[in-house]
Amino acid sequence: MAHDTLVILDYGSQYTQLITRLVRDQSVFCEQLPWNANQSTVEDLNPKGIILSGGPASIYSPDAPKLPSYLLTLGIPLLGICYGMQALTHALGGEVIPASDKEYGQSVLEVSMDNLLLPEGSHMVWMSHGDRIKKLPPGFVTLAKTENSPVAAMGEPIRQVYGVQFHPEVKNTPIGEEIIRKFLFDICRVNPGWTPESIIDQSIDHIRNQVGSSRALSAASGGVDSSVATALVFKAIGTQLDAVFVDTGLLRKNEQEQVILSFQESFGMQLHTVQAADLFFHDLKDITNPEEKRSRIGNRFIRVFENQARALNHPEFLVQGTIYPDVVESYSADRAHTEIIKTHHNVGGLPEKMEFKLVEPLRYLFKDEVRKIGKALGLPDSLIWRQPFPGPGLAIRCLGEVTQERVERLRAADHIFITELEKADLLRRSKKSSTQGTSQCFAVLLPVKTVGVMGDQRTYEDVIALRAVTTDDFMTADWSRLPSELLARISNRIVNEVPGVNRVVYDITSKPPGTIEWE
Ligand code: XMP
Repeated sequence: MAHDTLVILDYGSQYTQLITRLVRDQSVFCEQLPWNANQSTVEDLNPKGIILSGGPASIYSPDAPKLPSYLLTLGIPLLGICYGMQALTHALGGEVIPASDKEYGQSVLEVSMDNLLLPEGSHMVWMSHGDRIKKLPPGFVTLAKTENSPVAAMGEPIRQVYGVQFHPEVKNTPIGEEIIRKFLFDICRVNPGWTPESIIDQSIDHIRNQVGSSRALSAASGGVDSSVATALVFKAIGTQLDAVFVDTGLLRKNEQEQVILSFQESFGMQLHTVQAADLFFHDLKDITNPEEKRSRIGNRFIRVFENQARALNHPEFLVQGTIYPDVVESYSADRAHTEIIKTHHNVGGLPEKMEFKLVEPLRYLFKDEVRKIGKALGLPDSLIWRQPFPGPGLAIRCLGEVTQERVERLRAADHIFITELEKADLLRRSKKSSTQGTSQCFAVLLPVKTVGVMGDQRTYEDVIALRAVTTDDFMTADWSRLPSELLARISNRIVNEVPGVNRVVYDITSKPPGTIEWE
C-alpha cells in the first residue's frame, strides 16, 4: 500500500479502539493488532511507528503481557500509553511499583521539559491507573508530572521512545489529539495520505488485482456496509459483478424500490432481484420463537442465494461488507465465553458452506469511514445514513406468528412512524446535540389484542409499540425523548389509518435492561 502505516498493539484496554480512531482521524492509516501479534505480521506492515495501548494487567503479575523484544530492534518511534508505558519501562530496565494512591479521573499535568510530544504548560489529562513508574529506564528523562505521578510522561529522544501515564485517546484529555498529532507528524514523520479518495483508488486497484477477469457476486441488502462494498466493487470491475437483492417479504415499505433505484441512479447498476417472500413465509408458518425465526430466515436466505449463484454460473468471488470492528473483535479471546443474547444472524453476511473466495473491501474501515467512502462514491444520503435494519427484518418485530397480513399491518404502522420522524427531522442524530434525533426507530406489532372504542363501536384489535433509541454503539442505548405532540400525531394516524390496530404504546426502556429489538 502506498500510504504510511502505524501499528497499535492492544494490551486489552477498553480504549484501544479510540486510539485507532484518533490516528485514522488524522488521515493516517493504522492497524490494530493484539500485543502478541507475530513479529512478521508487524514487520510486513512496515510501520512508521508503534503505539502500545493501556491494559488491565499489572506488569508484575505472573501472566502479565510483556513488551515483545523485537519492538526495540525495529528502530522506529514507540509510544506507550498507561500500561504500554509500564511495559516499556519494565523491559528497558526501569521500575514500576503499585501506587499508594490510585489515580483515577482528571489530573493536572505539568510539563517540565521542552519536548516533541507534549505541548508546554499545564493541562487537564485523564488518568486511570494503579501502578506507576518509580525509576526511569536508563537514558530516559521525565517530561511531565501530576500530583500522584512523579513520572506522568517520559521520553528517550534519541531512540524516540515515549511513554505517557494518562490516556490521550479519551475526550477528557483535551490535548490528546494534539499529542497524537505530534507523535505522528513530528516524531514518526508520517504522511497523512489516508483520505477517502486514496482509499477508493487503492481499493479499486486491490479488487482488480484480486478478481482479475473472474466474476463476483454480492448480496446487496440496502444497509450501508453492503451498499458501499457493492458500489466499490462495481466501480472496480463493472459488469463482472452481479449484485443480488432478495425480497424476503419482510422488508419495510418501499425498501426494495428505493434500494434498486439508488443503485440505478447512482451507478447505472442493475440489481438482480429475487422475489422470495412466499418461501420465507412458508418457513415461518406457526413459528413464534425468535431464535427459531432467525435460524429459519438465515437458512432460507442461504438457499435462495445458492440458487441465484447457480443461475449466475457460480461466480468465484463473494463480496462481503465486513468492517474493521468485526475484524478487531474477532481476535478477542473473551468472545467465545460471551453469553449469546441473540444470534444476530446477519442475512447478507453469508455463507461458510458455500465455496467462494471473499472480497472484503471495507475490512479496514470503521463505520464512519465507510460512510465517507460511500459519499465520495456518490451514493445518496438515503443509503449512507440509513438506520440499521436487522437481517431477519420485520419477522422479529412481528411478535408471535409471522403472517403476510400481520406483517402488512406492521409495515403500514412503521411507515407512518418513520415518515413522521423524517418530517420532524428526527431520523438522524443531530451533529450539534447528541441527545437530539434518533439512532434507530421502528414499530413492533404485539401478539395481544385490546379493547377500544371507535365511534360508538367496541373494537378488539392489535397493539403497536413504537421504539426509538439513541445510541453510539448499539451495545447500550437510551430511549429517545420524542416530543409528546409528535407521539400524539403518530398514534392518531396509526389508529386511524392502519386497519386492525386500536392502540399505540411507546417503549421507555433503555438497553440494558431491555434490548433494542423486542425479539
Ligand atoms: P439488540 O436488539 O440486540 O440490537 O439490542 C442491537 C442492534 O442489532 C440489530 N439486530 C440484528 N441485526 N440480525 C441483524 O442483522 C439480527 O438478528 C439482529 N437482531 C438485532 C438491531 O436492529 C440493533 O441495531
